Amino acid sequence: MRHLMSPLDFTVEELDNLMDLAQDIEKNPKKYAHACDGKKLATLFFEPSTRTRLSHEAAMLNLGGSVLGFSSADSSSATKGETVADTIRMISCYANICAMRHPKEGAALVASEHSIPVINAGDGGHQHPTQTLTDLLTIRSLKGHLDNITIGLCGDLKFGRTVHSLIHALVRYKNVKFILISPEELRVPSYIRNDVLDKEHAQYEEVVRLEDALPKLDILYMTRVQKERFFNEEDYIRMKDFYVLDAQKMELAPKDMYVLHPLPRVNEIAVEVDDDPRAAYFAQAQYGVYIRMALILTLLEIEV
Ligand code: CP
Repeated sequence: MRHLMSPLDFTVEELDNLMDLAQDIEKNPKKYAHACDGKKLATLFFEPSTRTRLSHEAAMLNLGGSVLGFSSADSSSATKGETVADTIRMISCYANICAMRHPKEGAALVASEHSIPVINAGDGGHQHPTQTLTDLLTIRSLKGHLDNITIGLCGDLKFGRTVHSLIHALVRYKNVKFILISPEELRVPSYIRNDVLDKEHAQYEEVVRLEDALPKLDILYMTRVQKERFFNEEDYIRMKDFYVLDAQKMELAPKDMYVLHPLPRVNEIAVEVDDDPRAAYFAQAQYGVYIRMALILTLLEIEV
């Protein structure tokens, strides 16, 4: 049985196949409308979410399946002290596959030791692999390739799990250059620098000023400062508006650069940027449904 804990659970070739399937789903939705008839997806969200939970649910509904689940730890028996392992044992009696978000790193891995395919929908500050699949599909769809790109990752690179997962995934493609744009306090953790970027001999530089990086980029990946992972409010307030991408800054960017953001945004992208044809973050959310449909089919081993 396969699970998705990390983007590395799929080889580059398997990722290509998954993205091919997602693109076929986008072009021929009717072909897949009954692929999961009679199947159930459980969404177990111990942390808040809009996109990840609802896009998994939309994906399963688009495939003809059904959904059940909870959207906060407070509305589950976790409040009574039930363990993740026991929760997943129960869920495996009710559903064929589950997507789990949990504040603790490794929680989805614990769940995957029990009986149904588990999708890690975000575990603490660690990984967010379905967001990465979404990001890869978005970049491949917009640019036509994942090799030979320069990507700027901007904002909270310390706590941003989407950034960690995306770096893990992109180091496997050829000639990808990373420009890591963050304040000193929010640089990527040393384990990402040493064990991923250095180990894979990736080309990268770390800069503080977004303006310096913008002219060099094919993709700008903006992130919000992760309020929920800060230990003190003062540090968050000092950092939260460090980067604000606005129309004036966009003038520094190439005409064929795209702006991605896993969302939700707070202040880091001004609303005026939404009208720029290079703003791709809402399209990215739509790609998230196609790739999750492809993922559900793949993990349930359903061929159409
Ligand atoms: N991108 C993302 O994970 O959004 P949600 O927190 O709304 O799921």
